[in-house]
Amino acid sequence: MKSETGRSFYIHTFGCQMNQADSSIITAILMDGGYVVAGSEEQADIVILNTCAVRENAVERISHHLQFLRGAKRRNRSLLVGVAGCVPQHLKREMLEMFPVVDFLAGPDTYRNLPLLIRDAVEGKRPAALDFRIEETYGGIEPFGEVGVGAFVPVMRGCNNMCAFCVVPFTRGRERSQPFSAVMDEVRRIVAGGYREITLLGQNVNSYADLEGGKDFASLLRAVSLEAPGCRIRFTTSHPKDISPDLVDAIAESPNICSHVHLPVQSGSTRVLERMNRGHGIDEYLETVALLRSRIPGVSLTTDIIAGFCGEEDEDHEATLTLLRKVRYDTAFMFYYSPRSGTAAWKTLEDTVPLAVKKRRLQEIIDLQLLISAECLQNSVGSVVEVLAESESRRSPEQLMGRTETNRAVVFDRGEARPGDMVRVQVLKASSATLTGVNKGVLPAF
Ligand code: SAH
Ligand code: SF4
Ligand code: F3S
Repeated sequence: MKSETGRSFYIHTFGCQMNQADSSIITAILMDGGYVVAGSEEQADIVILNTCAVRENAVERISHHLQFLRGAKRRNRSLLVGVAGCVPQHLKREMLEMFPVVDFLAGPDTYRNLPLLIRDAVEGKRPAALDFRIEETYGGIEPFGEVGVGAFVPVMRGCNNMCAFCVVPFTRGRERSQPFSAVMDEVRRIVAGGYREITLLGQNVNSYADLEGGKDFASLLRAVSLEAPGCRIRFTTSHPKDISPDLVDAIAESPNICSHVHLPVQSGSTRVLERMNRGHGIDEYLETVALLRSRIPGVSLTTDIIAGFCGEEDEDHEATLTLLRKVRYDTAFMFYYSPRSGTAAWKTLEDTVPLAVKKRRLQEIIDLQLLISAECLQNSVGSVVEVLAESESRRSPEQLMGRTETNRAVVFDRGEARPGDMVRVQVLKASSATLTGVNKGVLPAF
């Protein structure tokens, strides 16, 4: 349904890469509905916050932003404010009561309705589209607004895992996979668009299953790697319990699949993992790590950790520190546990760890991991790495910034290279988060 409205919109994206990919889908849907992209938030007729509900502070962050938009609305009475993504899906219509500034709500499965929702919002109706549509994978919509050298492909949406702490199954609904042929169409479009990196996305990407085509994630990954031989292929997030030997082989065999696996562990204690309902213990996790390390030489592992989950004792926390020392992740996302309403932990477990203890444990985890990350970076000094150049460095126009296969940022002298080129770089120096190196020449495609 087209309406040449000409109104402009601006999307502010919070949360995970899936939300980033969704913002490009929302952009495509709104443009098809006759809306145009605003140059900035200040110039927009419609501001949409695409939100994340995974931790408490995520809601705080948007409330600050909504506060600011209340001021903007006083200055411009026709400004519309929409909230999309996981927060409205979690809080439901309650959001409209909490935030009178909000004109419309759209959950992650309802973005095709946005043009209609906006029309209703213009009439002052404050619509809320929050139903789950198990068949919705946004097939046939070409995302718009991807910047840089890489593109995302959401291959599955939703999650069936029900980890006790996690709100995602309630904000994203049940798992569903994009049909294999649709993923391949999207990959061909990305290749034709000149992108050099493709990231396959899913909350639990390795449980991808195209039931009709009989394809699992390993076969999808192989097919994407062959279809896009000039692109680097990444994928996230993998669940440790679904790493199959065949998937490990697919990564090992394909030169353009990055040797990097983000493998969230959450805790180093089997007792806590059981309470979290993660579906594996530490021994199985370490077996998976050993398998990855034996078949993929130099594989980079990264993780997510939650400190202070319900019932976590000092010895469980020690087990997490021990695990970090054992696995030596390149980097980690580290959080302290925040109870989320509706989850199993919120309903049935007591949040026993006092905030001060959660914070202290988290700090110990962060301090240790930062040390390990710095050592990993230091160890790469002297080596030659392959870097996909992304953009001009912020420090100097004479330098480019790019990323290694293991996702480390590298700054190097530009030479003949341009963003989008694969460059051999000799690492000279490592700081806490960035490598600096010297350009050893542009590589031909893989
Ligand atoms: N699907 C991914 C995780 C998605 S959420 C997986 O299974 O690993 C991203 C991360 O947020 C999680 O890995 C977890 O470390 C963190 N997280 C989720 N819920 C949380 C909560 N209630 N409190 C603190 N951290 C949380
Ligand atoms: Fe949340 Fe667990 Fe699903 Fe990840 S696998 S999104 S942590 S329920
Ligand atoms: Fe956040 Fe929703 Fe992603 S809760 S982590 S934006 S799936």
